[in-house]
Amino acid sequence: MTPAERINELRIRIRHHEERYYVLNDPEIADAEFDALMRELERLESENPDLVTEDSPTRRVGGRVAAGFATVEHIEPMLSLDNAYSEEELRAFDDRVRRGLGIDAGSADAVKYVAELKIDGLSVALTYENGALVRGATRGDGVRGEDVTPNIRTIRAIPLRLRDGSISGRFEVRGEIFLPRRAFERINSEREAAGDVQFANPRNAAAGTLRNLDPALVATRGLSAFFYQLVSPATGSRPVATHFETLELLRRLGLPVEPHRQRCTGVDELLSFCRSWEDKRRSLDFDTDGVVIKVDQLADRRLLGATSKFPRWAVAFKFPAEQKTTRLKEIAVNVGRTGAVTPFAVLEPVFISGSTVSMATLHNADDIARKDIREGDWVLVEKAGDVIPRVIGPILSRRPADAQIWKMPTTCPRCGAELHRAEGEAVWRCENTSCPAKLQRGL
Ligand code: IVH
Repeated sequence: MTPAERINELRIRIRHHEERYYVLNDPEIADAEFDALMRELERLESENPDLVTEDSPTRRVGGRVAAGFATVEHIEPMLSLDNAYSEEELRAFDDRVRRGLGIDAGSADAVKYVAELKIDGLSVALTYENGALVRGATRGDGVRGEDVTPNIRTIRAIPLRLRDGSISGRFEVRGEIFLPRRAFERINSEREAAGDVQFANPRNAAAGTLRNLDPALVATRGLSAFFYQLVSPATGSRPVATHFETLELLRRLGLPVEPHRQRCTGVDELLSFCRSWEDKRRSLDFDTDGVVIKVDQLADRRLLGATSKFPRWAVAFKFPAEQKTTRLKEIAVNVGRTGAVTPFAVLEPVFISGSTVSMATLHNADDIARKDIREGDWVLVEKAGDVIPRVIGPILSRRPADAQIWKMPTTCPRCGAELHRAEGEAVWRCENTSCPAKLQRGL
């Protein structure tokens, strides 16, 4: 066997085992055997530098990214998703789809959908050219994102070269980069041991990692990915007719696709899929904040089109926000850059939806008075995904006998100036232009 043949064989075997390990979580060989294959490939490549190619599995980590990331324009906008928070809102979505497709209101014809888990990560767009990964970009504002190719290349679930040639030319796949929970816990305990600030949740850790300028560091973090969209196959002819087949095609090409997808006919099947994941999701190794529901037929999708923000053929069904009770230690006030003085809750730390919450918003003084929230109260706190946690209200049956009605301060906690409130407004303001809090924040 020539070195070129052996190199080719090793690359195919290494990619196969990377896929077994990082995509399917089902390795076929021991880590030491995998390392031996990798070392042999590295040796052959260093002896035969002319045989090194950019899509070789030895080439995941390149040099440092010199300055910041370059801005790149997406071939078509990366849209967001409309949300549904209840059965009614999901039925309303189905009604809109049926109307859009001209299915009679009274008709029993049910629309075919695909339900997928909504991955709580960061969306990215990967470009492949003749089978090789050439670019990875963040969503950015949806129109323009950042070119994070060197970091994307370090993610071992992502193939540097696609399997088989069933799709050629230049095309783009879109999906979500995330940090598995196990990796998140490992990183945070390492940071704790080193005295570094811990990440609040896996999503923040993934976001910070993907935008790090050192791919060697990114490679150690253990990011992963799932893909769910195929944009503009360069062939022009559409290789598939449905979304479900698209997902199967992506999987065949060697891309990671979340395995719990399901075809559902009509709303009732969708609802039972959503409900079944409300609790089951906690057993997954990644955070999911809902179910994405998509019309299966691609021709129907084209018919439905999109608004400027969302496709009309998809909706995100959000899991209900998680709630916990905890002690409200103190109601503190914060002075913002505009002089707005806003109260917030300092809580006995409590673990909700994947992170420890020790502060929560209380909106404004009127809201606190209306709900009669007092320092020392037990309160109900709610957090959904990555939104700011909020205090819903006090648990009156557990109120300490000495709890005092809370009063908004009348003077600025930073400079002592009297606070004012404009007619009909809920916000109190410090109007002292030289208030240190305002100056500091204004910097
Ligand atoms: S489809 C045209 N499917 O959720 C819209 N999005 O809240 C394409 N997301 O921006 C999106 N899991 O980053 C889709 N299975 C999934 C998803 C998913 C997570 C993200 C995506 C999107 C955001 C909207």
